[in-house]
Amino acid sequence: MSKNIVITGGAGFIGSHVVREFVLKYPDYHIINIDTLTYAGNLANLNDVENHPNYSFVKADITEADTVLKIFKQYMPDGVIHLAAESHVDRSISDPILFVMTNVIGTVNLLNASREIWKDDFGGKRFHHVSTDEVYGTLGETGFFTEHTAYDPHSPYSASKASSDHFVRAYHDTYGLPIVLTNCSNNYGPNHFPEKLIPLCIHNILNDKPLPIYGNGKFTRDWLYVIDHARAIDLVFHEGTDGEAYNVGGFNEWKNIDLVKELCRQMDTKLGRLNGTSAQLITFVGDRPGHDLRYAIDATKINKELGYNPSVTFEEGLSITIDWYLSNEGWLNDVTSGDYQNYYRNQYQ
Ligand code: NAD
Ligand code: DAU
Repeated sequence: MSKNIVITGGAGFIGSHVVREFVLKYPDYHIINIDTLTYAGNLANLNDVENHPNYSFVKADITEADTVLKIFKQYMPDGVIHLAAESHVDRSISDPILFVMTNVIGTVNLLNASREIWKDDFGGKRFHHVSTDEVYGTLGETGFFTEHTAYDPHSPYSASKASSDHFVRAYHDTYGLPIVLTNCSNNYGPNHFPEKLIPLCIHNILNDKPLPIYGNGKFTRDWLYVIDHARAIDLVFHEGTDGEAYNVGGFNEWKNIDLVKELCRQMDTKLGRLNGTSAQLITFVGDRPGHDLRYAIDATKINKELGYNPSVTFEEGLSITIDWYLSNEGWLNDVTSGDYQNYYRNQYQ
């Protein structure tokens, strides 16, 4: 059966992989990518699918309620997969209001537009909100985030995502809007913007620049290959239970310092450098304010209920990722010119 599916934030890192998954896997769906193209949005991420007949791009800002409603009335989507967001914790510390506007107001605008066009019949409709494990706050040395862990966000970014999650659930409970949520751990892979730890270190290794490690480097994140996140979104969008949230992860925890050392090891091999060369660039810098110590997702529910498992190990995914950056230095150079240089100076000097 043919469907119109709006994907927001489809020109960003994860969104572009979700758009590709849907455009290629579901030729009978019409995929409408709504993205305003902030610094993080890049249509080059979608070069290979932009001419497919079942794909359309609409440049629009989700903080503008009238614009969102107009687009929804034009395309009459059966489903919405909402990824558009301000996504970087460090930027949320310097500009929190932007995160409220995009992540909270933008989400509510999309909920309102969905409610308006679906009001006569919610049958067969679905609003899928893509969220993060950061809403749960931080763990100590042990334990995992389950879907029942109480929300306890610490950064303006995670507070804005937590707020958006609450609005999505409130629209389900108050108006009956058909929704699902996914709360995923840290993603990595091709097209990751080099403000985040892994692509920033890849870029700096290629340019012989310091690898900035916040605090003592013992902060722990749970990493998932981006295409495995896109697969999970596909699964939950189609098979998840109405009103439910699913944690997405691969039981793959790394302390930042160990991860960066593994990255250095693989980069040295691939670049034909003496083992240990890149690790000499590791530099401990001041800590991130409000830095969460540890994230770890319990992904039992999505595994048991929907049969989900990641497809690659971290070492494999990291190797594919490095190879992608080595073959796409033009992409990396494009996104690190201009404004990126100002951001980098303000953040690290
Ligand atoms: P990203 O920053 O790479 O991309 C965000 C996209 O949203 C960009 O294309 C940007 O242009 C677009 N956008 C921003 N503001 C907009 C606006 N006002 N109107 C329309 N479009 C706008 O983000 P990402 O890392 O791909 O994350 C995507 C989603 O997944 C976010 O909601 C994020 O919270 C969530 N998430 C990310 C991770 C991760 O590790 N990156 C993990 C879990 C969940
Ligand atoms: O957990 C999911 C979240 O993962 C997503 O919701 C966010 O959108 C995404 O940005 C990511 O947030 P993190 O803050 O965990 O990712 P980041 O890559 O910024 O940082 C990863 C870890 O590395 C974190 O402990 C901070 C540290 N770090 C980061 C940077 C950029 C450094 O030590 N040095 C750095 O320069």
